[in-house]
Amino acid sequence: MFNKDLNKFEIIEMNGKKYVKICRSSDIFDKKGKRFQIEDDYDKQVAIFRVEGKLYCFHNICPHRHQDQIHNAIIKDNTITCPLHGWTYYLETGANTNPKQGLKKLDTFEIFELDGFVYIEYPKFKIPKWRREYNENDTIDR
Ligand code: FES
Repeated sequence: MFNKDLNKFEIIEMNGKKYVKICRSSDIFDKKGKRFQIEDDYDKQVAIFRVEGKLYCFHNICPHRHQDQIHNAIIKDNTITCPLHGWTYYLETGANTNPKQGLKKLDTFEIFELDGFVYIEYPKFKIPKWRREYNENDTIDR
């Protein structure tokens, strides 16, 4: 579920960079994505996966049709596939596996575990211009 309270996330600083303490390590299950709302804005959410022990963090908005379903992606052979129309991305880079589908990649964010918690870099979301204009009159249902 969405965490709409921005203050629920502790922000830490390491080496001059900000990180978000996003959840407990035990909250992320192997081969099951989880969504986190970082700020109270449809466009500012991430999807976190653990695959064979390694953590991955992506923008939860699929670049195909701008839908927030990456956390429900199907994980297979080091890729994740958006459940809506099948665009597939490499786990390691977020690059699209099929350039014929389009060159848009899924944005990735640094993620690590420390003392039983999961941290991600404070994400700088790339929000398309049309969404920024839409947000000025934001009425989107969530
Ligand atoms: S919205 Fe993800 S593949 Fe279409």
